[in-house]
Amino acid sequence: MAMQTLLKGRILSFSNSPFDGDPVAATQQDEALVISDHIIAAVGSFDDLRAAYPQADVIDHGNRVILAGFVDAHVHFPQTAMIASWGKRLIDWLNTYTFPEEMRFADSAYAEEIANRYLDLTAAHGTTTMCSFATIHPASVDAFFTAAQSRGQRVVTGKTCMDRNAPEGLRDTAQSAYDQSKVLLGKWHGVDRLSYAITPRFSPTSTIEQLEAMGALWAEHPDCLMQTHLSEQTDEIEWVKSLFPDARDYLDTYESYGLLGGRGLYGHAIHLEQRERDRLREHDAALVHCPTSNTFIGSGLFDMAGLMADGHRIGLATDTGGGSSFSMLRTMAAAYEIGQLRGTPMHAAQLLWLATVGSARALHMDDVIGNIAPGKEADLVVLDLASTPAISQRSDRASDLWEAIFPTIMMGDDRAITEVWINGKRR
Ligand code: GUN
Ligand code: ZN
Repeated sequence: MAMQTLLKGRILSFSNSPFDGDPVAATQQDEALVISDHIIAAVGSFDDLRAAYPQADVIDHGNRVILAGFVDAHVHFPQTAMIASWGKRLIDWLNTYTFPEEMRFADSAYAEEIANRYLDLTAAHGTTTMCSFATIHPASVDAFFTAAQSRGQRVVTGKTCMDRNAPEGLRDTAQSAYDQSKVLLGKWHGVDRLSYAITPRFSPTSTIEQLEAMGALWAEHPDCLMQTHLSEQTDEIEWVKSLFPDARDYLDTYESYGLLGGRGLYGHAIHLEQRERDRLREHDAALVHCPTSNTFIGSGLFDMAGLMADGHRIGLATDTGGGSSFSMLRTMAAAYEIGQLRGTPMHAAQLLWLATVGSARALHMDDVIGNIAPGKEADLVVLDLASTPAISQRSDRASDLWEAIFPTIMMGDDRAITEVWINGKRR
């Protein structure tokens, strides 16, 4: 008989996208759920589930909110220890802070230490799945997958490929990037809950030969995700134009070499031209919004409302350590603030959807994670809506769940995360 646990609380799930019509109507509230082994076996009223699962252990969370674990669709776990580095914009930030830190991952013991530190920090913040860049070192991929595997965690990563415009020691070649990525993919993709993403960092750090090699590898393994960066800063876009004089636009530097597809994840995607928007939409490619990064590095304001209205597939992400937080709560707050600056504030249900279902859809994993429903994997987060005096004095006077949860989205941190379940196990 599988171990069964009955969780009682305010279970919040999504029956539809809160970006299609009334956001609240897209949500569902239940009293209880049952975890059996590593799966959510049932969702419903407490009395019904108690009767159906009499031997289940009961954990009563009172009026805490139980949600699917957060899904972070774009991060750099190797940038954990250099998060919040001051005063630079993208290109200088990469050269000054990022590349020297990534160089340290030549030491596999350091890679293991940071992979575990990163997974500890993010679990404390309620993030149960992430899609991470590694470094160019194959051992950094091994370190991340090994750490996640031992925790039973569903994660994505891939060797970050760069064969130009990066320092000695952080460059591979078109051939070695292809060969090493292929070996890692064969070793890890589909093992337990682990998935491989083919990972050219961004077109300025890859030659055409390397982009072609990555495109060829993706064509051989179309079930893999492909992750990269797109149109984050205007200086970067000018640089791409000078490096690829024949390209129609930034996206074309991927599209021309087989790197535009439905299982592609394009981080940032802020300063898009109409042709790029059209092509991304035609492919149903995923755009990943990284709001704390976009304000921290000074990149720009993602057009969430316009891109959603056009039907784009969109995920939400910290972009740690360009992003300034490990917390998806803080990330939702930043997304809200960017929406405000654009005159299109998001509803709490839309923010929570982006951090769960939206990011799971971006990773093509919404069949197994990102929501609470029978048959889904039991990755859950339990939120305390009164985790600090400042939050509780505001949520106390809320007239409904949405008003009660919004102060935690705006002001909450790891203190709001009461409990995290990963693959049916409480951490
Ligand atoms: N563009 C290329 N590499 C990176 C990175 O590591 N972080 C961010 N924010 N943008 C990038
Ligand atoms: Zn990034």
